[in-house]
Amino acid sequence: MSRLDFDFYESEDPVWNPALLTIPVPGIRKMVNMAASMEDVIHLSIGQPDAPTPPHVVQATVDALNAGQTGYTMDAGLPELLDALAEYYGERSGRALSPENILVTTGATEAIYLALTAVSAPGREFIVPDPSFMLYAPLIRMNGGEVKCIPTRAENNHQLDPQEVIDAIDTNTHAIILNSPSNPTGTVYPRETVETIVQEAAYRGIYVISDEVYDHLIYDDRDYASVLSCCSDLDHVMVISSFSKTFSMAGMRVGWLIASQGAIRKLRRYHMFTTTVANTPCQWGGVAALKGDRSCVSEVVSTYKKRRNRLVELVDETPFLEGYVPEGAFYMFPALPEGVNGNNVALRLLRETGVCTIAGDTFGESSRNALRFSYATSIENIERAFERIIPWMEKQDFG
Ligand SMILES: Cc1ncc(COP(=O)(O)O)c(C=O)c1O
Repeated sequence: MSRLDFDFYESEDPVWNPALLTIPVPGIRKMVNMAASMEDVIHLSIGQPDAPTPPHVVQATVDALNAGQTGYTMDAGLPELLDALAEYYGERSGRALSPENILVTTGATEAIYLALTAVSAPGREFIVPDPSFMLYAPLIRMNGGEVKCIPTRAENNHQLDPQEVIDAIDTNTHAIILNSPSNPTGTVYPRETVETIVQEAAYRGIYVISDEVYDHLIYDDRDYASVLSCCSDLDHVMVISSFSKTFSMAGMRVGWLIASQGAIRKLRRYHMFTTTVANTPCQWGGVAALKGDRSCVSEVVSTYKKRRNRLVELVDETPFLEGYVPEGAFYMFPALPEGVNGNNVALRLLRETGVCTIAGDTFGESSRNALRFSYATSIENIERAFERIIPWMEKQDFG
């Protein structure tokens, strides 16, 4: 653990708001920091695309800088980007959207922060699939809300049973969090699942907060059910996405939130008190991403699909790992036998073989025996990693 992590988590200095204790030691940082001190490490741990940002997007950003586009934009976002997003989502979801339905944020991360912290309060309950992206539960808890987990399993492709979600709703439930395709599992929810949950939530007056940052990374020509295409109006939905994963723009920090105009008005005010506006030149880059040639997206999808297929084969050949076929994003979350501590396995794998993976407990409580593999890396790296993992696993005794 770096000195910084140690200070933050162990300090008894009363200056810190106790709510910060809800933020767990970040499992990913811990592994990546340890890997940084080692040689010859193969990373299956990276959560960002390895493809370059499309050149026309870089060019539009540079052009914006050269043209002096370095001031603040309007608080909801660059008007040209809001228009482009409204048109783009209107076409994709078959639903007329106006720029007033959209708020541009500093990555999807800010949109998630705004949505969860604006709704979470003591006594309020949030339904969250487990495992899930590590931001949701701490942000809910930091603001006094409670998390009700719905566990999902590798043997079931980590699919969410909509009836289980509906049965978990009670009088204190304020929102259901969805993330399809999912980080860490790569699971894509079928349309029936999303429709059933969204319709029941609307009927009960509960919000569905849907993190759709991987919405373009879908394999095997599967249908993608965005919450936007499954709701009859926007009154109870907040849909979040960004340019980070689809266009390899993670460091450019532009995301957005789509909701009813009333919700956007409220969140705009909150946004002015958090980051003010998103990065201006990179918003111009975003306009170019939406309006320019998008063939780069199908190219990366076909590359990820080949890697996914190879990873699924290699996991199948590995003793003790229970795999499945992830349908989206660039992650797989295979399970070790019940009761095995994934954290120990990830640490030993790193120390003894130099392969860096992320332990399941980074993503919740129900999958402590899992490992997250990212395939945002070349097939050669994936194969080299398994040349180390398979013989190592063969020597283990998890009985
Ligand atoms: C599910 C999920 N949501 C949100 C984010 C953050 O996206 P952004 O870079 O747009 O803030 C990530 C990044 O890993 C993610 O995996």
